[in-house]
Amino acid sequence: MTEITFVTADITEVDVDAVVNAANSTLLGGGGVDGAIHRKGGPEILAACKELRATDYPDGLPAGQAVATTAGRLPARWVIHTVGPTWAKTIDKSDVLASCYRESPRVADELGARTVAFPAISTGVYRWPMDDAARIAVGTVEATWTRVQEVRFVLFNQDAYQTFRAAHS
Ligand code: APR
Repeated sequence: MTEITFVTADITEVDVDAVVNAANSTLLGGGGVDGAIHRKGGPEILAACKELRATDYPDGLPAGQAVATTAGRLPARWVIHTVGPTWAKTIDKSDVLASCYRESPRVADELGARTVAFPAISTGVYRWPMDDAARIAVGTVEATWTRVQEVRFVLFNQDAYQTFRAAHS
């Protein structure tokens, strides 16, 4: 049974086996979590992402999918890059966001990662409402079988922490 925990922190500081990155499909970096992970993790991560683009993902990583690289200088051993959906009032992309929380643990199992830290995927630049993202994130992790022993949701402020905590039954 996977333990689900919540903490308010900078995800680049968290000491777990794998840190999940809220990436974009290019895998070539960006702002928010993506920018912080590449900045703190160093060039090794981008080099590994460019290698992925040159081999398995020539067209980029589709939204909802996940792929692992080294974590470079981060305390973690791996970064699991996943691409969340952008929020759209008229199109329900909930299943794509849920897929990020199913595929990342699946990749973690392939790696043998036993502790995994997630940010609040899609709730920043991609503008997904925090409460709905929390419901989908926590509900999907609760419903997904994985060998991961701890899933740690790492929130960037108290409001997000309260919202995610409240979504866990
Ligand atoms: N640690 C933990 N959480 C963080 C950190 C951090 N260092 N930095 C930002 N966050 C929070 C944000 O407050 C937000 O709640 O992570 C959540 C996700 O925000 P984004 O990083 O903007 O990710 P997302 O909304 O999925 O948008 C992805 O943004 O940075 C670009 O390259 C990225 O194009 C992609 C898009």
